Amino acid sequence: MSILELKDLRISYASSEGRLPAVRGVDLHVDRGEVLGLAGESGCGKSTIAASVLRLLPKDAEIDGEVLLDGEDVLTMGWTRLRAVRWSKASIIFQGAMHGLNPVKRVGDQIAQAILIHDESASKESAARQARELIEQVKLPARRARAYPHELSGGQKQRIMIAMALACGPELVIADEPTTALDVMVQAQILDLLKGLQSELGLATLFITHDLSVLTEVADRIAVMYAGKIVEEGPAKQVFDKPKHPYTRALGSAFPEIGDWSYRMSPVGLAGDPPHPNDIPSGCAFHPRCPVATAECADHEPRLESVGPARSASCLLLEPVQNGQMA
Ligand SMILES: Nc1ncnc2c1ncn2[C@@H]1O[C@H](COP(=O)(O)OP(=O)(O)OP(=O)(O)O)[C@@H](O)[C@H]1O
Ligand SMILES: [Mg+2]
Repeated sequence: MSILELKDLRISYASSEGRLPAVRGVDLHVDRGEVLGLAGESGCGKSTIAASVLRLLPKDAEIDGEVLLDGEDVLTMGWTRLRAVRWSKASIIFQGAMHGLNPVKRVGDQIAQAILIHDESASKESAARQARELIEQVKLPARRARAYPHELSGGQKQRIMIAMALACGPELVIADEPTTALDVMVQAQILDLLKGLQSELGLATLFITHDLSVLTEVADRIAVMYAGKIVEEGPAKQVFDKPKHPYTRALGSAFPEIGDWSYRMSPVGLAGDPPHPNDIPSGCAFHPRCPVATAECADHEPRLESVGPARSASCLLLEPVQNGQMA
């Protein structure tokens, strides 16, 4: 059984213009010990999915479908059970959360507090000891427990956030853009740390980013999202090296690797902006930006279908992609 399984997940937010469909029928699973990368541009619904896993969405959000955490539906769970599974079964490193550390409290105390909230039997001393151990686990010296957030660099603060996410021994960690705000060198160090922890602890990870190339470093599988739906899914290397969906191709080439001349010589890029949830194009939501769209793409919505071993994609032109006519 997967540690996380989303079944036909639909989430909409309230707005002055009516309901905003942010997630429009997503099926996704994360197996035990696996890193699933979830990629897509800003606003496609990534953080909305992340928040739904621990039922942390705002009250006005409407959610349909199932969010099965270790087989139990988070959406129908009672509050007591929900409190028990939050952070101990699955935890989240929130997007931008390192800026949310309490500025007037030592980081070790903040980690210890998280432990005490979730483990009523823990003593203050044991929580403080665990906090120091966690700080060492994220490769910082234990004495940094006494630091205040402003004394730490961005990368060190992000390590503290990772330590906090590990505090209750979760089986699944959701990392929402954990490296985006960091410079390239520090990004690489944080990715290394996450990779190390993942294999050391056998953690399953849902790794969220807009940068597909980051996922080739960490993910086993990649799911690509566009306008609230998954448009492509498959083994990480295959999806990155041989994308099937035109959107994945554009997303991949929008972030060329240094030294990759093929991308530099023929930049595909991605023109225009992704659609707002209150104005999703007919047919294939990507068709107005798609370099290979046909008239049919505006009328028919493609379904996510199998396009090879362990691979799926939703594109009406997929046969031509497979035959190489679109290459
Ligand atoms: N609390 C909210 N109320 C109303 N609309 C919201 C709310 N939170 C998110 N949205 C909208 O839902 C859509 C999906 O947002 P979400 O934050 O999940 O996207 P994202 O993929 O995480 O984007 P980013 O890469 O910028 O973090 C966006 O159009 C956003 O404006
Ligand atoms: Mg987000």
